Amino acid sequence: MPNDTATLLQNLPKLSDTLAELTEPELNDYAETVAKGITHIDNAQDLGQFRASVTGKKSALTNWSKQMGKLDAQQKKQVGGWLHAVRTRINEALSNRQTELETEALNAKLASETIDVTLPAKGQQKGQLHPVTMTARRMQQFFKQAGFNVATGPEVESDYYNFEALNIPAHHPARAMHDTFYFDAHYLLRTHTSPVQIRTMQAGKPPIRIICPGRVYRNDSDQTHSPMFHQLEGLMVTEKSTFAELKGLILAFLQAFFAKELEVRFRPSFFPFTEPSAEVDILSDSGKWLEVMGCGMVHPKVLQNCGIDPNEYTGFAFGMGIERFAMLYYGIEDLRLFFQNDVRFLRQFG
Ligand code: PHE
Repeated sequence: MPNDTATLLQNLPKLSDTLAELTEPELNDYAETVAKGITHIDNAQDLGQFRASVTGKKSALTNWSKQMGKLDAQQKKQVGGWLHAVRTRINEALSNRQTELETEALNAKLASETIDVTLPAKGQQKGQLHPVTMTARRMQQFFKQAGFNVATGPEVESDYYNFEALNIPAHHPARAMHDTFYFDAHYLLRTHTSPVQIRTMQAGKPPIRIICPGRVYRNDSDQTHSPMFHQLEGLMVTEKSTFAELKGLILAFLQAFFAKELEVRFRPSFFPFTEPSAEVDILSDSGKWLEVMGCGMVHPKVLQNCGIDPNEYTGFAFGMGIERFAMLYYGIEDLRLFFQNDVRFLRQFG
């Protein structure tokens, strides 16, 4: 059956305009044909038009109803009942079809708005640790397993802890090596983590085994220097600490950190707070020796400055740049990349 309103209307039974001439079977047949036609209408707009045509002011049904007044009381009751049945049947069909169309529309909408819950969510990007933090943690992990505790100290340090107590008196040429940021005659930004050695030895008694990771500051900036960088200091003081023990520890650390057999060399050097002193080099894949840390036996004067008798105790210390280890481990050529915080760079170290 056609479903456009005009054709449906044309196909309705042609009944008399005059109410008095109508019979009950004719009206029932009319109502059934209208109701059947309604089931074929496929959209809300056509349904509305059709509703107006069959039940509205100008519809045949309304026209018949208007003529009720002309009937006598008995006819009124009978014909009134027929017309009521016709209207009820048509309204029922209209409302059923309307509900069906609404359900269809809702289902179509839901289908078009389906959410695929298996798609990756937009969500938030997962953060991650900075490569310098990860490097510091890997270094600490080794030393913690070797029995060292983590110690910390202030970044704003006094001249005494940063230099004096470490056997670097005023006007000592070693001060020139440090490019210090001074606040005034007494306070400065620590140039190394070695003042934590002094603070630890003054606060406790041997045996001492500490590492101190932290920020240090020097007035220097280029591809391999940054005004702020990180060091990891180590200190061990016991009744019989030896250079051999220092060597063994450092060797084990380097092999563990780089997770491979390494050529390591201890090259005689100088630090005012260690005697003897050495610089540690590792042989790189390119055949070049790379300096990775300073170390030595704690100078007797430094032990004395901290109230430790150098005839009873010996100690060794070492200090290394954390960025330097991160650069070697990850193969990064420019130190400044660590501090520009470009996420495209930082995301590579997950
Ligand atoms: N403090 C030294 C530096 O910053 C490193 C070092 C630490 C050397 C401990 C010897 C012992 O260069």
